[in-house]
This record gives sequence, structure tokens and C-alpha cells, in this order.
Amino acid sequence: MTRKLFVTTALPYANAAFHIGHMMEYIQADIWVRFQRMQREGGGLREVHFVGADDTHGTPIMIAAEKEGITPQEFVAKIAAGRAQYLDGFHIAFDNWYSTDSPENVELSQGIYRKLRDTGLIATKIVDRFFDPVKGMFLADRNIKGECPKCGAKDQYGDNCEVCGAAYQPTELVNPFSVFTNATPILKPSEQYFFKLSDPRCFEFLRDWLNTPGRLQPEMVNKVSEWLGEAGEKLADWDISRDAPYFGIPIPDAPGKFFYVWLDAPVGYLASLKNYCEKKGIDFNALLNDPGTEQIHFIGKDIVSFHLLFWPAMLKFADHPVIDKLKVNVHGHLTVNNEKMSKSRGTGISPLRYLNLGMNPEWLRYYIAFKLNSKVEDLDFTGDDFVARVNSDLIGKYVNIASRCAGFINKKFDGKLAASLSDNAMGWIKRALSTADGAERQASIAANFENREFGKALREIMEIADVTNQYVDENKPWALAKDESKVAELHEVCTTALILFRQLTILLSPVLPGVAANVAKFLNDDQLVWADTELASGAAFQPMLGRTIGAYNHLMTRVDAKMIEDLFDAQNQIAAAGAAPAVAAAKPAKAPKAPPLEPLVAKQGVEALAPEISIDDFMKVDLRIAKIVNCEHVEGSDKLLRLTLDAGESRYRNVFSGIKSMYQPEDLIGKLTVLVANLAPRKMKFGISEGMVMAASAQDESANPGIYILNPWPGAEPGMRIR
Ligand code: 2FM
Ligand code: ZN
Repeated sequence: MTRKLFVTTALPYANAAFHIGHMMEYIQADIWVRFQRMQREGGGLREVHFVGADDTHGTPIMIAAEKEGITPQEFVAKIAAGRAQYLDGFHIAFDNWYSTDSPENVELSQGIYRKLRDTGLIATKIVDRFFDPVKGMFLADRNIKGECPKCGAKDQYGDNCEVCGAAYQPTELVNPFSVFTNATPILKPSEQYFFKLSDPRCFEFLRDWLNTPGRLQPEMVNKVSEWLGEAGEKLADWDISRDAPYFGIPIPDAPGKFFYVWLDAPVGYLASLKNYCEKKGIDFNALLNDPGTEQIHFIGKDIVSFHLLFWPAMLKFADHPVIDKLKVNVHGHLTVNNEKMSKSRGTGISPLRYLNLGMNPEWLRYYIAFKLNSKVEDLDFTGDDFVARVNSDLIGKYVNIASRCAGFINKKFDGKLAASLSDNAMGWIKRALSTADGAERQASIAANFENREFGKALREIMEIADVTNQYVDENKPWALAKDESKVAELHEVCTTALILFRQLTILLSPVLPGVAANVAKFLNDDQLVWADTELASGAAFQPMLGRTIGAYNHLMTRVDAKMIEDLFDAQNQIAAAGAAPAVAAAKPAKAPKAPPLEPLVAKQGVEALAPEISIDDFMKVDLRIAKIVNCEHVEGSDKLLRLTLDAGESRYRNVFSGIKSMYQPEDLIGKLTVLVANLAPRKMKFGISEGMVMAASAQDESANPGIYILNPWPGAEPGMRIR
């Protein structure tokens, strides 16, 4: 049977920007989806539909909009407009991003409700609920505060106490008051609609659904089994209605009643899929009725009851076709430096701040993937660990292979790889790509991706990188390149290393899609799929033999520990300045108070100022931001480095710079600097220098021999003029 996958992540409330926990879940699902999309299926590639949406309904959003003097729809639209920068920024490739406040969701939610009602699973009951007599509105648990009935702490919410942790009913609060008007709430009877989870049919279904092998993680089976009780005696009916005024979907045939937000939120998964199908001309019903279709939700451990009790039961008794292939993957939470994220102390790390600091999104994707497994375990982001993991694996092991070998293929062999390999080279390829018992590693790596054991998959991939680096270290292409008689060996070593580098890239591509796309360009590859890693068929090496490749541009820079300091520093400032901002997560934090200025004394040995110039004089010098895309030693020069610069033009510039005493080429590759762009080209012994990079130095070199290249602040881009 051909697998077709319908995959979702939890729908975020449309009242705040994404925090790093959202990004963790999206990255996890995106990696899984990208892996699936690389699989051959039914003569093509596997069909995967990955959708998300904003979860828009409920009292908090209604009140937030009211505070801003706009409609809930306008409020939600503002939040929705901010989503793309995060999703694009971290390479999260949803096929569709939609909204629970949509005609599709109204139709689907009401349709599911009608089916549940027709099958006898909806009941009404009159219940006493708190009502704000001043605002004229029923109050949600979180809209009521008062003293904790257990410990007496003041100012506690209506559902649980943040001081002693007790959970209770809002009616148990002592001296309750409405958070909107401070009025004392009154109890008012109201007819409520319930989904009859206590019906024996629900228990029987859930027990079997839950215990289907492979459907849920073992810890989730245990947890939900406890909630069910021996014979369903613990299952209580679920109140699915809220009274007007409420921002939500009207309950059919029940004037003034709306679905509780958690009823229509998961239906939003289907609404987003339906909307996507309409846009793409896919038959939504046919897709859901296809026996090969699987429905897979990625969610956090805090919303398990909604997804493992109510949602499957709703779908089952509304005759949802995919119920037998419904799967829920639960992950733990992200902690930052071993601390739980807290909204009042800031959200740990702001994803936008991360991007604005110029930090590479694929570093985070790799780090998160490395720490993920299939269990419901929390995952910790620690600055030092992040720097060490990324620099050691991605730069030290992976990128290093290409940066040590690709240049020789371009320079010495016109970009052409060797057409055949010796048995020795083939032996290394087989060794790198096989497990100790001779099986193909790609198969076990695939199994680990499929089972969401991403950490295990990446460890295996890094073992391939280790063998490859061992091969390069033993054969030393840089030494072979100096000996004309070793040219064939050099060709073979670099070809073999690049074959393995390509394999690593394919295996890493679910995690590093941006890097993989750049590598595919440089290696002249079309779309790479999992089958391109097969050793037995020769797909893993055959297509590379004799191939001409393009110029190598550096793929990724090291993480600078300073960036992590800036990331946390900015975050601490946000936390110190107050609660985490909702929408403006990336706004600069409040400026710290400046310390008093010390009187200055002119420093010894500082060069005298040059004669004054006018602004017109200054503007004659065209200074541009340039990216150092490559940097090499210059044979025969002990002062110069050769820089290849991208200054936003249609050509690269070659610039020689006398900074060898201070920098290794790998320190500079990928960095931005300042170029004097309109300086006349200068012919030097080693070639033409097309401009000059700016660097600071002391007048008296014997006192301070350092020369320090300029590096602009994050946000500057190649080609920008400095004025
Ligand atoms: O916890 C939350 O953020 C919810 N908005 C998740 C909803 S998931 C699905 F049911 F829509
Ligand atoms: Zn208490």
C-alpha cells in the first residue's frame, strides 16, 4: 500500500509570537517530513502534506483584541502576519498555514458535532457558572481570581494555585473577583453541552486505540490508561460549550452557545488540510478515505489529554476515515540552561533575536535534532554545549571534508572528479558507509529518522564523517598537492572524500536543508533522494565518477561563543525589563543605564589626525560591506592572505591583505568586513588585488604589531554602502 502522510504540529494560540519551544516542535516535525519526502513511493516520491494554522478562538484572544480596540479577526490577522519570518527563517516548510477562524473549520467542526449528536454522544446539563454582573459575561476559570482554598495565598487563578500547586474548582476560591471588573462573580445557571466521554463506547474504543502496537509511546500508553481507569470509570463528560459573548464557532441549533476553543482547535488540522487541498486541486475526501493515508500529529506533553482522549474519540464517533491510522507523537519541553521557560521571566531564547544576531538557523536545527529522541523527555539548550556540538560536528567533521578537498579538484583538475577508483578507495567508501556487521548504514539511519530517533541518526552520520576524516588525514591531500608525481593519488583522494561528503550531505539534508541545497548546486546534483545513498546499487558513488563540479564556496561558519553571550544577554535584558513581549519579541531591550564618564587623557602613541576633509571628500571613498566567501594562504608570502569577496556585485573580488600574522583563513571565511571598493586595482606579485579590506593597526608596530580587520554588526549585508 502506498503511504500518504498528513502531518501537523500543534496549532499555536494566535495571541503571541512564537517562542523557542514552538520552533523546537516545528523543527522536529519538519525534519521528519523532509525525511519522508525523500522516500521513493509508488513510482515517485512519497506524498506528504504538512500543515499548520493559528488557533484563534477563545476568551483570551477576545479580551486582548478588546483591549487594543480592534476585532478579534483583526487581532488574529496581525499575529498571523508575523509567522512567516520565523517559519522561513528556520526552514520550516509547511505546505499550508491557515486559521481555525475559517469557513472550512466552521463546516467541519459543526459537521463533527452533528455526527456526535446523532450517535447519542452529546448531552446537555444545567450547571452553575460564575458570571461577571458588571461585564455581563460568564467567566472562564482564568478570568476569576481569589484566595487559594488550600493555602490562603491571595490573587490566585480559578483553576490552580501557583503558590501551593493545588488544583480546584473556581467555586472553591475564597473572596473571588472578576479580573475584568473586580466585581464579585455571581453563580448563574447555564445550559451546557457535553461530549459524553463517560459513555462505555468511548472507553472501549480508547482502550483498543491506545493499545494498538506502535501507535503511541509506551509512557503515553501508561498515562492514558491511568486516565481511563479499569473500566472507564474515571472518564468524565467534557463541557464543550461556552456562552456568548465568545469568539468561537456557534453550536448548531443552540442560540448563544459556542464551541469551547479546544473542540474546534484540532478540527483546525483538518480545516488547514482541506483549504490546502482546495488550493492544490486535491480531492480532500478521497485523500482521507485512501487506505494508505496516515494522520500524524506532533504535540507537546502539556496537551496530551486533548489529543489522546477527546480528539480520537471525537474522530471515531464522527466516522473519520483515518482513525485507524491516527498517530500522536508527543515530545517533552525545551528548557534553557536547565530552567523551565517562563513567560514572566522571558521565553528563554527569542527565535527572532537568534536570527537577527546573524546566527545560522541550521545550527539550531542540528543541535535540537541531536538532542531529540522518541521519548517524552525534556531537552535542554545550553550555550556551551550548543557551541561545542555545532563546531565539533558541523564544522570540524562535516564541512571540513569539503573545505580540505574541493579546492584541489577545482584548481588542479578543472573541477573534474576521477572517473574510477582503486580498490583501496572503494574499500574506504564501503567501510564508511557500512556498519560493523556489513549492513548499509543508510538503512539504520533511515530507521532512526522514521522512528524519530534523530540523535541516534546523527551520531551514526558523524561516524561516517569520522571515517572520512581519518581517510583524508591519512592521505594528506595538501601534501600530495606539492608533489607532481602524486597527482593521480591527489585526484583519487579528493574524489573519494567528496563522494563521502555528498553521502553525508544527503543523510543530513532533512536536518540541514539549506546547506544541502548549496552542496547540490556545487556538486551539480538535481534533487537528492534517499535512494542516492544506496551502496549495493552503486548509487552512493557511481554518479560522482568523472563528474564536473562547480566552485566550492564555504558552507557554514563556526559558532562564535560571543553570539551566545549576546543571545542570552539580550534575553536577560528583556527579562529584567519586564514580561516577555507578546508580538514584539525582537524589539531591542531597554538600554542599560550608562555609567558616569571618566575624564579622558590622550593615549601615548596614538597617531595624529589627518587633515580635515569635507563630506564630499569622504564620499569619494566607496566603502562597502563584503562577505569573505573564501580565504587562503598565498604561496610564497608570509604576510598576505588571499580573500575572495562578495560585495553584492555580479562577480567575486580577489583581494590580497597583509593580515596573515593575525588570522587563519578559517577564522575569516563567512565573516563580513569592510571593503574599499573603488580603489584602483593593483597588480601584485601574486595577482591583481581588486580593492582593500579595512583593518586597524597602531602607528608604532613594535609596540603593538596587531592588525585588526573590521567586522560590522549583525544585520549588515554584502553590497551595503558605508556612509
Ligand atoms: O496549547 C496550545 O498552544 C493550543 N493552541 C494547541 C492546540 S493544538 C490543536 F488542537 F489545535
Ligand atoms: Zn495555595
